[in-house]
Amino acid sequence: MSFVAINVLTVPPPMREVLEQRFANRAGAIDEMPGFEAFELLRPAEGQDAYFVYTRWESREAFEGWMSSQAFGQGHAQASADGPAATGSQVWTFEVAQAKARA
Ligand code: HEM
Repeated sequence: MSFVAINVLTVPPPMREVLEQRFANRAGAIDEMPGFEAFELLRPAEGQDAYFVYTRWESREAFEGWMSSQAFGQGHAQASADGPAATGSQVWTFEVAQAKARA
């Protein structure tokens, strides 16, 4: 079963546009990583201040491989160069226990 890693970013409302723009210009380096399955940027809909950066992988090893790759640095070049839009971040990891996706 797959492995899910979510980066929970605390983003003050005035910085939301900056964050979303950075993701709109994201490097896409993750897309071709071995074991990469999916990415979603989840915008808070009900007044929370946390964006979820959802990633799904074939295995924990695939996620860890990306984290220690050059692609991870390439994927975070804007945040590194211009400073973070988020005031906090926390990584939550999960094993997918059950799943269903409509074809
Ligand atoms: C201090 C921690 C982190 C912060 C503040 C942060 C913030 C950001 C920002 C602002 C971007 C937009 C692109 C850019 O900056 O060039 C980005 C890209 C991305 N982040 Fe993070 N990030 C962090 C760590 C992580 C971690 C641990 C994950 C794993 C779930 C993650 C997942 C992603 C993904 C999938 C992308 C797109 C990469 C690509 O297109 O190649 N981030 N992140």
